[in-house]
Amino acid sequence: MSDSKSHSSLKTVEWKNNKVVMIDQTKLPNQLIYVEFSNYNEIADAIKNLVVRGAPAIGVSGAFGMALAALQSKASTKDNLLEDLAKARKILFETRPTAINLGWGLEKIIKIAKVGKSVEQIKNLVIDEAKKMADEDIEINKTMGKHGSELFDNNDTIMTHCNAGSLATVAYGTALGVIRATKESGKNVKVIATETRPVQQGSRLTAFELKHDGFDVSLIPDTAVGYSMANGLVNKVVVGADRIVRTGHVFNKIGTYQVATMAKQHGIPFYVAAPLSTFDMKTNAKDVIIEMRKGSEVTGIGDKKTAPDDIDVINPAFDMTPPELITGIITEKGVAKPPYKESIKKLFEAN
Ligand code: MRU
Repeated sequence: MSDSKSHSSLKTVEWKNNKVVMIDQTKLPNQLIYVEFSNYNEIADAIKNLVVRGAPAIGVSGAFGMALAALQSKASTKDNLLEDLAKARKILFETRPTAINLGWGLEKIIKIAKVGKSVEQIKNLVIDEAKKMADEDIEINKTMGKHGSELFDNNDTIMTHCNAGSLATVAYGTALGVIRATKESGKNVKVIATETRPVQQGSRLTAFELKHDGFDVSLIPDTAVGYSMANGLVNKVVVGADRIVRTGHVFNKIGTYQVATMAKQHGIPFYVAAPLSTFDMKTNAKDVIIEMRKGSEVTGIGDKKTAPDDIDVINPAFDMTPPELITGIITEKGVAKPPYKESIKKLFEAN
C-alpha cells in the first residue's frame, strides 16, 4: 500500500457517477474502506459521526450533500427546488458548529442555485459548483504548501497536531500540505505527530497518512509535547485550523492551545496553515461555538472502557489559540504575520 511519492493517493471525498464516495475515517488505520452515498441525509450523518472530518473536507462534503439533494429533489418548479435545497442546507449545517468551511460550502451552493433559471439548469449548476470546489481545494492546498515551504529548512523536525492532511481536505492537505511541499522542494524533513486524544486523529490518521506516503514520522502521546520541545526534538510546528477570525484567533482541534503555549515557552515557531475559506471575518472570537462531543470519546479507547461508570466528562472538540502565540498564518494568498488584524485584512483585499 505504501509508496514514496509526496502527493497522497488517498481520495478523501469524491463525486462519482452521481454518488459521493468517501474514505470511512472511523475505520482507519485498520481498514481503508470507501463508502458510497446517494442521499444527503447520509452525508449529514457521515459528517456528524466523523466518517469525514477536517474543516475543508466537510466544506466540500457539505457541497456534495447539496448536489445529492438537488438530484434527489422531485420539484418541478425552480421555487420548489430552492425550498428543497434550503431544507438540505439546514440539515447539513446543523451537523458540526465550529468549522466555518461547512457554512461557506453550503452558502456557495445556495448562491449558485439562485442563478439558475430552470430546475434542470439549477441541478447542473449545483453539481458543477460542488465538483469545482473539490478541484479547487487541491489547487489551493498546493499553492498554500508552496508559500509555507519557504518557512521550513532542510533537516527540520516539524510537529503537527490532529490531522490537517489529505484526509482533512479533498487531497494534499493544509498543514501536511505545507510539509509535503517542503519535501517536494528538496528539503529533508521529519515529522512528529501528536496522538490527539480523545478521537486520535493524530495516531489514526496523520501517522497513517504520512506512513502511507513515505514520510519519516514519529508518534508521541499528547503529554510528550513539552518533553519533545524541552529536549530539542522539534524545530517548528505547523497545524491546521477549523476557523480563524479577523483578529487572528485560531480555532483548531482541542490541544492546539497547549502545543502553541509550549512552543512559545521554548521559542519554537508556531505556524497555522489554512485556506481563506477557513476565515470568518464577521464573528468575534468570544462568540465562536465550540463543539462539545459525547463523553464516551473520553471514557474509553475504541470499545475498551478506561474510566469509571457514570463519570462526568467535559469533552470540547476545539480550543482557541490567541494571536500572540502564532508566528504566521499560511494561506493560498501568502503568509500573514502579526499584527494579524492588518495582515489578514490585506490577504482578503488581495483576493
Ligand atoms: O474533529 P475533526 O476531526 O473534524 O477535527 C478538525 C480537524 O481536522 C482539525 O482541527 C484540523 O487540525 C484542522 S482541519 C484541516
